[in-house]
Amino acid sequence: MKTDWTPSSWRNKPISQQPTYPDPAKVAQTEKTLRENPPLVLIEEIKQLRQQLAKVAAGEAFLLQGGDCAESFAEFSADNIEATCKLILQMAVVLTFAGSCPIVKVARLAGQYAKPRSADTETIEGIELPSYRGDIVNGIEFNELARVPNPNRLTQAYHQAAVTLNLLRAFTKGGLGDLHQVHQWNMAFVKDSPLGERYQDLADRIGQALDFMEACGVGVNRASIRETTLYTSHEALLLNFEEAMTRQDVITGKWYDCSAHMVWVGDRTRQLEQAHIEYFRGIFNPIGIKAGPTMTVDELLRLLETLNPNNDLGRMTIIIRMGADKIADKLPPLIQAIKREGQQVIWSSDPMHGNTVKTDYGYKTRSFDQILAEVRDFFAIHDAEGTYPGGLHCEMTGQNVTECIGGAQAITERGLADKYITNCDPRLNAAQSLELSFLISEFLKKSRRKKQV
Ligand code: PEP
Ligand code: CO
Repeated sequence: MKTDWTPSSWRNKPISQQPTYPDPAKVAQTEKTLRENPPLVLIEEIKQLRQQLAKVAAGEAFLLQGGDCAESFAEFSADNIEATCKLILQMAVVLTFAGSCPIVKVARLAGQYAKPRSADTETIEGIELPSYRGDIVNGIEFNELARVPNPNRLTQAYHQAAVTLNLLRAFTKGGLGDLHQVHQWNMAFVKDSPLGERYQDLADRIGQALDFMEACGVGVNRASIRETTLYTSHEALLLNFEEAMTRQDVITGKWYDCSAHMVWVGDRTRQLEQAHIEYFRGIFNPIGIKAGPTMTVDELLRLLETLNPNNDLGRMTIIIRMGADKIADKLPPLIQAIKREGQQVIWSSDPMHGNTVKTDYGYKTRSFDQILAEVRDFFAIHDAEGTYPGGLHCEMTGQNVTECIGGAQAITERGLADKYITNCDPRLNAAQSLELSFLISEFLKKSRRKKQV
């Protein structure tokens, strides 16, 4: 227990990236209602994820974290949630099978509604309005009414998260998560591509293995085959929402952010003396810190001292998002310092956020080759340092979008216009995500084989 910490002690610190609401009394009333509502996830589930992540930190499993950059209210549908859920299961089974490694699955879903922005306002044709900060804050449409931060959106986000969680639990425990369904996870629009076929082949082999086990009388009806677990996560950016979801464990007295199983602090809000780190240091969830090119060795060590003073296994995930051109310079000193200090962390690769570019036609995009180059370097650097590359953090969707360039479908700059629907950053589509999983499974296999010899 931290004696000088409370769920609201962050309010005494300077804070970045928060909206300015026109009616603070209405915000306070909404926060009160949310505090009185049920939590979105249970403390017991959060503790389970921490145990799973302790295995990742020890090199015995791999963390797959992914989903939308920004979930939106408009794109909220059972079909979209099911598609992303299937995609995560599909990527996980590729990594498990080809990489021979248990996968801990964490979705960027059921809470990923708040976005940090590079500027407080946006100007189009001489009109200046507040920036869009995610659907939990304001609307994406460029008009004054939509852009005014509205506290009703906090309530809407809470309810959408609850319904999303309900569906995810039903999918993963009620049939879709059954390994016997492995063929069903292949999306119709991917099926006939070479990648879809490669996946079908892998699924056939899993099907045969299950039939064989069944014929031998090895139980294939056990929960570990029939069900799976998909944890949830988001960037805990909007601290009044996170505070309202914070609950105390009656047994241990420890506090947990019950808005998601895992939360992370973004690259723009990780300042040591500021509000976000104050909030994060007091909750006992597993937490992530994004580390971009400005992260120094000294800063990282001080953050770990504050956030994980007992060096607990499974508490900290460092999410590296340097960019393909910077990772070779920036990552090794961080790894060396952590090794020197004996800190126990999960190293995860976010190959998305350091590789964002703007095309001549005005689209924010990422090239599949750059994404792959960053992941490849991430694995190679860990190999050279003798440390474990423990995770992948991706922005992706099960929908057939055209937001990132390249991949087997060879999406071009002009092709981006076909289906570019993200509310914020460009996501990998299902085919690109699957391709990335097959490629990563090779790196993973090599790194695990090396560990075993
Ligand atoms: C994100 O994950 O969507 C994000 C904003 O990342 P970062 O904090 O690494 O920029
Ligand atoms: Co993003």
